[in-house]
Amino acid sequence: MRTIGVLTSGGDAPGMNAAIRAVVRAGIYNGMKVMGIERGYNGLINGHIKEMELSSVADIIHRGGTVLKTARCEEFKTEEGRKKAINVLKVFGIEGLVVIGGDGSFAGAQKLSEAGIKTIGIPGTIDNDLAYTDYTIGFYTAVNTVLDAIGKIRDTSASHDRANIVEVMGRHCGDIALYAGLAGGAESVILPEEEYNIDEICKKLIQGKNRGKLHSIIMLAEGLGNAFEIGKKIEEVTNIETKVTVLGHIQRGGNPTAFDRILASRMGARAVELLMDGASGRVVGIRANQLIDMDIHEALLIEKKFDKEISELTKMLSI
Ligand code: F6P
Repeated sequence: MRTIGVLTSGGDAPGMNAAIRAVVRAGIYNGMKVMGIERGYNGLINGHIKEMELSSVADIIHRGGTVLKTARCEEFKTEEGRKKAINVLKVFGIEGLVVIGGDGSFAGAQKLSEAGIKTIGIPGTIDNDLAYTDYTIGFYTAVNTVLDAIGKIRDTSASHDRANIVEVMGRHCGDIALYAGLAGGAESVILPEEEYNIDEICKKLIQGKNRGKLHSIIMLAEGLGNAFEIGKKIEEVTNIETKVTVLGHIQRGGNPTAFDRILASRMGARAVELLMDGASGRVVGIRANQLIDMDIHEALLIEKKFDKEISELTKMLSI
């Protein structure tokens, strides 16, 4: 293989730059030309492609976002759009493609692979919603960002004897809320994977207050109702002033943690190795700290298991 391409697609995630760097450097190290495709499948369809040099990825390993930019592309979901993309790949002589993104991006990669383009996926999303891998690139950085925010919220909440609902991202996956809930010592965590009982949450808050607790944090995964309504209800029942913080896109930015930089570097290099071995339609993942790769279709069929152990532990430690 002489020329490979790399793109980032879907929501950006901290560590994507480290993955791009790894793909570019491993590709060049192995004697290949590496083309950077801008704005995901959108840029592919429109031929927004440039050759990457060693220097194109200098000074990016520590930066959030993606230097290749990213997009969600409706046109690529159509047969017509994909035909255009395949043509562009041929025009640029790109024989193998590394797609860094989440499940939607992987579904696109699989279609390309079915059409004969050698494609490898790298999981880049803060959501950690891909069941085949223990972690996706960006997840732990997002959790750390949430923890940083919780620390600040605690300062002000404690000063005012308030409770705080902190709404976090994750789409349909509660991992950010769950892990940040445990690490941040949240009193309650509201997740899509578990039924929640507002009376139980209120009871805990009242018990905590009676014990002299200065403040309380309730983690809420996005999409589970209106945080402000939940806050109002809690305030009515408990008589504890309850504020709401919706963290939003702050969770997608920032310098990637060491964990995400290392994960991204390992995965990027493995993706290049797989392309050199002639593999296609596969995704790279990590299980028990060992890199793995598997068929994209199979990977997307695996159902995400809810981490009951972490959830039970969070509950036990927040009595
Ligand atoms: O998939 C990453 C993610 O940040 C989700 O957690 C969130 O639901 C969504 O993307 C937000 O998308 P956008 O950046 O398009 O608003």
